[in-house]
Amino acid sequence: LSRGRGARALRAQSTITKSNIPPHILEKAKATPSEKLHNRVHHPLCTLRKIIEAYFENELGAKQGRPPVQFAKFHDLPPIVSTRACFDELLVAPDHPSRRPTDTYYLDEATVLRAHTTAHDTELLRQGYRAFLVTGDVYRRDSIDKKHYPIFHQMDGVRVFADAPSEAWVLEDLKETLYGLAQYLFRWPKNSEADKSPRTSALSDADAAPIPVRWVDAEFPFTRHSLELEVLWQGDWLEVLGCGVIQPDVLRAGDVDPAKHSGWAFGLGLERLAMVLFDVPDIRLFWSSDKRFIKQFQDGVITQFQPYSKYPPVYKDVSMWVKDQPEASDGNGSTSGRLFHENDLCELVRNLAGDLVEDISRVDEFVHPKTKRRSICYRITYRSPDRSLTDEEINRIQNQVRECIRLEMSDVAEL
Ligand code: PHE
Repeated sequence: LSRGRGARALRAQSTITKSNIPPHILEKAKATPSEKLHNRVHHPLCTLRKIIEAYFENELGAKQGRPPVQFAKFHDLPPIVSTRACFDELLVAPDHPSRRPTDTYYLDEATVLRAHTTAHDTELLRQGYRAFLVTGDVYRRDSIDKKHYPIFHQMDGVRVFADAPSEAWVLEDLKETLYGLAQYLFRWPKNSEADKSPRTSALSDADAAPIPVRWVDAEFPFTRHSLELEVLWQGDWLEVLGCGVIQPDVLRAGDVDPAKHSGWAFGLGLERLAMVLFDVPDIRLFWSSDKRFIKQFQDGVITQFQPYSKYPPVYKDVSMWVKDQPEASDGNGSTSGRLFHENDLCELVRNLAGDLVEDISRVDEFVHPKTKRRSICYRITYRSPDRSLTDEEINRIQNQVRECIRLEMSDVAEL
């Protein structure tokens, strides 16, 4: 590592003095495996997991004209992992943005809530697995909108070949495998009732036109020749997964000799896929305990969600002056005081409003010509997926939001 990188890494680490995990997030992380959404029978995320697992179990071998490979399946691994497993062994650079406490939940300096299920890959390789699927809840501090929630679910897949085939061959096998998966998921029997009737058959219709896919170059620290797979769905390219050929140093970290082996890995987000396949318009709905949501789904069946109502939103704006520049510098580039980060604001609001916050967007921005200070206005959208909100409760929450911004965000100058 270059000196510059080391110094920056030290700074990033030194900011982690206490855990940045709110109690409601930790509580969900510590839920028992059977309480996790991807393990709840009938839940769309559970059905989707099983469908993808079935593809790897049954279809894959058959499609490629060879006996099916046994993919070991994991869906109970605890989400509390070491920074070594989550980042270091996956060659995530010390100064990589994903390591920042604005992006990742830290229990302490060396322990995080996994930011991706890839965090289990090296350990499972060390345990001797050469083909496996890991599904789990993952945790990221992020913006708030209909597609982002601080907890979501991923599945990673890994396959390592012992006879050290060429990387070109491994890449071809990967692309063929994932192309097959995309067709399996998106191409359903043509049926005039297709939108309403349950899709029980995961077998694609031979007559149906293939779903268009495209491969987009990508970059992940742990793979090379990395790609993202997108499918054309209702006129838009939808990103389905990331993948690539496993870096030799990652194999080495898993006690696998890269001179004798090569392999591929992929990772996909279950919510994005489930939102599209089950027609679920808001990611918060997956957490709903409302019977009108839960009752719509059966085990192993993809049904199109029928929205039961859309309650009116309540909008509230909040403006603030933010610090973008460190106030004092010790000459080594180290900063005094924290700088504004949008994820901190989102989490502050989420902590007070829970699932009543639907969206937080920047609506206006202004830099003072003289002082160069920046003023930002955010619009917070409050809406419940299952009831009407009262003015009173939203005003109360909004007042708390303003109060907390004043008290907790040292990076915000004034409201
Ligand atoms: N872990 C990556 C992510 O969360 C996805 C990925 C997994 C990409 C495995 C390549 C290989 O975005």
